[in-house]
Amino acid sequence: MTILVTGGAGFIGSNFVLDWLAQSHEKVVTLDALTYAGNRENLASLKGDERHHFVHGDIGDRALLDQLLATHQPRAILHFAAESHVDRSIHGPGAFIKTNVEGTFTLLEAARTYWSGLSEDIKGDFRFLHVSTDEVYGSLAPDAPAFTETHPYEPNSPYSASKAASDHLVRAWHHTYGLPVLTTNCSNNYGPFHFPEKLIPLMIVNALAGKPLPVYGDGQQIRDWLYVKDHCSAIRTVLARGRVGETYNVGGWNEKANVDIVQTVCALLDELRPSAEGPYARLITYVKDRPGHDRRYAIDARKIERELGWRPAETFETGIRKTVQWYLDHPDWVARVQSGAYRDWIETQYA
Ligand code: NAD
Ligand code: TYD
Repeated sequence: MTILVTGGAGFIGSNFVLDWLAQSHEKVVTLDALTYAGNRENLASLKGDERHHFVHGDIGDRALLDQLLATHQPRAILHFAAESHVDRSIHGPGAFIKTNVEGTFTLLEAARTYWSGLSEDIKGDFRFLHVSTDEVYGSLAPDAPAFTETHPYEPNSPYSASKAASDHLVRAWHHTYGLPVLTTNCSNNYGPFHFPEKLIPLMIVNALAGKPLPVYGDGQQIRDWLYVKDHCSAIRTVLARGRVGETYNVGGWNEKANVDIVQTVCALLDELRPSAEGPYARLITYVKDRPGHDRRYAIDARKIERELGWRPAETFETGIRKTVQWYLDHPDWVARVQSGAYRDWIETQYA
């Protein structure tokens, strides 16, 4: 048996592939375009492992998809590939429409053709699992209940709008064509291999370099944080036991304001790698807010717990400690991902 993972060289995808192969003998084919966010080094520990096959390619390449599906005959497609950074989507939304909307459409069409041709005895077992975000639901008022799976879609950024569009396509391919799909909508992840353009790794990397820690606006925006390996276990659970056509919200029951996250990172670094210059919190710098910045996200993850028995294993305290320690233990990875393209981005965003 084989699974096809798109975007498996990115942050969550690489954690998923590594965790999968640590627990299963089932083969993985990873398809990744290796954009600035994709990094083969994330999968370096799989070198020489015959259960893993890496393909450098784009989900928008229909001929490649057809060839991969025909050759490897996967029993499931796990679709992580996306443009994923809200700030980049504000500067350049085109790539988000291309990959998240058109790319997902092309992948769905290839999956439909492949699935239609499967013999009746295995057709019912095929799954297309679409990995999505809580950002499709928009922003919550401070006292509003957390997002359930029936919350209206109200995306506010080019990123979340493109992910919402992809969710709708996945839904339609099930209702119209019967493709056996599953969708997960997850809150903010953190953990190993997180590209340092996102809040938590950016703060760790900047603090260690003695650079300002840029907090947007008043820093009181709230996100619900989930350790990436818990997201991976949720996806494995939904793949194994999720009801076809359903969506499952995944979250950490852990709402925190951005500035509190930054303070926590600083306190951990003060403990684990104290600076001679004094506490890292001295570097916190309030900067111009993100346009259209969503104020609060919160996930109601009761459905996945009730139906499938999934709950996160990590608390925020255990997960963030592991994360900070991982960055301290991997200075070479950090140095290598800070390539020219990354430095250009930092220059554009924080100039
Ligand atoms: P990421 O940006 O770290 O990784 C995305 C990966 O997709 C990269 O390896 C990139 O090279 C690849 N990719 C991009 N365009 C491609 C294309 N056209 N064809 C093939 N590969 C392509 O993102 P991530 O944080 O790992 O997110 C993975 C998925 O999870 C995304 O769909 C995202 O919307 C979703 N998600 C992320 C979070 C989060 O907090 N990071 C939360 C919920 C959901
Ligand atoms: P981010 O990691 O970009 O994820 P998302 O926008 O998908 O939630 O940002 C998390 C929060 O942190 C978000 O409210 C924006 C804020 N933020 C900052 O305050 N400063 C920064 O430099 C970055 C990258 C994010």
